[in-house]
Amino acid sequence: MSKQDKSNVLSICKKMLICCLFLYMCTIIFLNNSNLLSTSQTRTSSKIVAQTNISHLVFGLLGNERAWHHRKHYVEAWWRPNVTRGHIFLDVPPRGDLLPWSLNSPPYRISDDIRKLVKETNHVDPRVLRMVHGIMEVVRQAHEGVRWVILGDDDTIFFVDNMVDILAQYDHTKYYYFGGHSEFILSNYWYSFNQGFGGAGIMLSYPLAREFAHNVMSCLKRYAHLKSSDRTTMVCVADLGVNLTPLQGIHQIDLRGDISGFLSYHPKSLLTSLHHYDTVDPIFPSMTRAQAGFHLQKAARYDQSRMLQQTICHHRSKSWTFSVSWGYSAHIYEKIMPRSWIQRPIVTFRTWQTSPRLPQYMFDVRGPSWNPCEAPRVFFFKSVEKTQRGEIVTTYTRGWPRGIGACLSSGNFSAEYVSDIYIDKCECCDVIHEEGSIRADIKYRECKINELIA
Ligand SMILES: *[C@@H]1O[C@H](CO)[C@@H](O)[C@H](O)[C@H]1NC(C)=O
Ligand SMILES: *[C@@H]1O[C@H](CO)[C@@H](O)[C@H](O)[C@H]1NC(C)=O
Ligand SMILES: *[C@@H]1O[C@H](CO)[C@@H](O)[C@H](O)[C@H]1NC(C)=O
Repeated sequence: MSKQDKSNVLSICKKMLICCLFLYMCTIIFLNNSNLLSTSQTRTSSKIVAQTNISHLVFGLLGNERAWHHRKHYVEAWWRPNVTRGHIFLDVPPRGDLLPWSLNSPPYRISDDIRKLVKETNHVDPRVLRMVHGIMEVVRQAHEGVRWVILGDDDTIFFVDNMVDILAQYDHTKYYYFGGHSEFILSNYWYSFNQGFGGAGIMLSYPLAREFAHNVMSCLKRYAHLKSSDRTTMVCVADLGVNLTPLQGIHQIDLRGDISGFLSYHPKSLLTSLHHYDTVDPIFPSMTRAQAGFHLQKAARYDQSRMLQQTICHHRSKSWTFSVSWGYSAHIYEKIMPRSWIQRPIVTFRTWQTSPRLPQYMFDVRGPSWNPCEAPRVFFFKSVEKTQRGEIVTTYTRGWPRGIGACLSSGNFSAEYVSDIYIDKCECCDVIHEEGSIRADIKYRECKINELIA
């Protein structure tokens, strides 16, 4: 290498070094800046927003004076005076035994003059008009700090703690429209698979509800021919650019008769509501609907998140299968049954409308059976208590004698003499039953690996 070459190489090296240094500095500054950027971003997004609680919900229950005389008991079963916020909207002022107004009921309001609104909108159905316009009336009454607006009927049992738990997971400053489908396939087909069935409760984030209220008159004029309030609500919300987010725990109960077969096999989703409470049979045997409503809330007060959630366990030495619907019922089968089968509701109920065609339900079902190996022995929720060790124990007592013999093919171990089942809470479970004892205990515990493959 010549002298000239050497100095050239040196100068190139120098230049490269300077370049590298420059790049290095740039990177450092850039990284610093991006650090600054990201910290300032997290700061704005974690701007302290208090957790959603019951005071952020406002209820608007749409009822009528005539039915409220007996339906008020259904609402008083779940309404917490001075804690739950909102109103019952009546068509005419309360009369007779409704006065003085019960302090355990939601305060009431009278719906706006429907005749006047019919004139303004040319709506074909005053009943539909009243319901849809009612959403605006609820928003108009909403207190400061409201995050969610909930509409429902007065023959619906709501589970408010679970609603709060669900809504707290969503950003109330965005647009949300929550609701539930019908259990009866044809109802969804006749109305819409995209609508929330309103009696069971629809939940709108406040900004969406406010926007809805703002546009309600023009929407009622636009859809003056529609004869369904739920469908009208859905199309008005869709015109605002929002679609339904369906929730599994909202139950329209488009079913009739004895719904115990449906309530005893509820999936593991938070129970939110039970509608058509006035149409189905009382949900506990030998109780009125009103009594049954209060009875169900006893368990709900201890642990609402577990309500109706199904747990299945096996008692291998006797070949028994237990299926528990927490806070509602317990069933014993005298045979080891696969979980997938036991998860299907038993059709103890009837369809909402007569429908000769199958399929009828939006979920898997199995028919009732009089085969002693397939028919459960049925127990209903009796009481709940907290033990000194802090465990919540629910007790279930026999509904009625099954009246068919034991299941012989699995060893002739009759459960006929078991009259009470005691259950404490957790995820998987063991059955503790002493030979001949009328009492069976179910101990819930953490699940083990391989356990779920029964
Ligand atoms: C609910 O949250 C608000 C804050 O937005 C708070 O002031 C209030 O005390 C809370 N209420 C309950 C019942 O926790
Ligand atoms: C609710 O609050 C009002 C006014 O503060 C009070 O008069 C009433 O007794 C309260 N109701 C209940 C059931 O606690
Ligand atoms: C089943 O058990 C009952 C009661 O223990 C007994 O009376 C009956 O004979 C048994 N049936 C058969 C077929 O073993």
